[in-house]
Amino acid sequence: MHYENTLAFARALDAKDPLKHFREQFIFPKYSNTDSLTSIENISNDVRYFCGNSLGLQPKTVRQALLHELDQWAEHGVEGHFRGELPWMHYHKFLTAQSARLVGALPHEVVVMNTLTVNLHLMMASFYRPTPTRYKIVMEAGAFPSDQYAMETQVKWHGYDPEKAIVEVAPRTGEDTLRIEDIVEIIENEGDTVALVMFGGVNYYTGQFYDLEK
Ligand SMILES: Cc1ncc(COP(=O)(O)O)c(C=O)c1O
Repeated sequence: MHYENTLAFARALDAKDPLKHFREQFIFPKYSNTDSLTSIENISNDVRYFCGNSLGLQPKTVRQALLHELDQWAEHGVEGHFRGELPWMHYHKFLTAQSARLVGALPHEVVVMNTLTVNLHLMMASFYRPTPTRYKIVMEAGAFPSDQYAMETQVKWHGYDPEKAIVEVAPRTGEDTLRIEDIVEIIENEGDTVALVMFGGVNYYTGQFYDLEK
């Protein structure tokens, strides 16, 4: 299919999308047609949702799941840690199989816990061990703000200067996404001064997928 900038083409792509049924599983906010965000006539008032933040749309099942846990709490009190269908004490294990499949790891290699930023700090406690000659962090320019703060905090905590230690890779002028060769070039140029390369698999803002293996 050749790309065309038309509604019909977009609909044809949607019709072919093997993941399209997932749309039914989420609640879309409704904006009125007078709202400039949704001014195309004769489509539903559902917002077209391209936001890549970790708080996405609400899944339709969430309300019931939350109410269920409140009921467990009411019924068992603190014993809810050990009783009921999903005892809270073991919560970190309930998503193991799915998470392992998602990230391509073995079940004993993954655990779901904490917030993203806490996990970044924990990972850097292991993987960022700077020395006076090898202390730099290579990361994407415009990473999510809390990621940037976490990097800065780690660098300062080890006694280094974020201005010198954090090397950001930015898109070329007039481009929106990073070229893999530019990332590789910076890693090679910085060479032995690099202590950590910090990239998420997918950029939250542009949706760019990074070939991490490369
Ligand atoms: C893209 C992205 N990165 C990082 C974060 C930070 O996540 P957390 O609040 O779990 O530390 C968020 C959450 O808002 C996010 O949307």
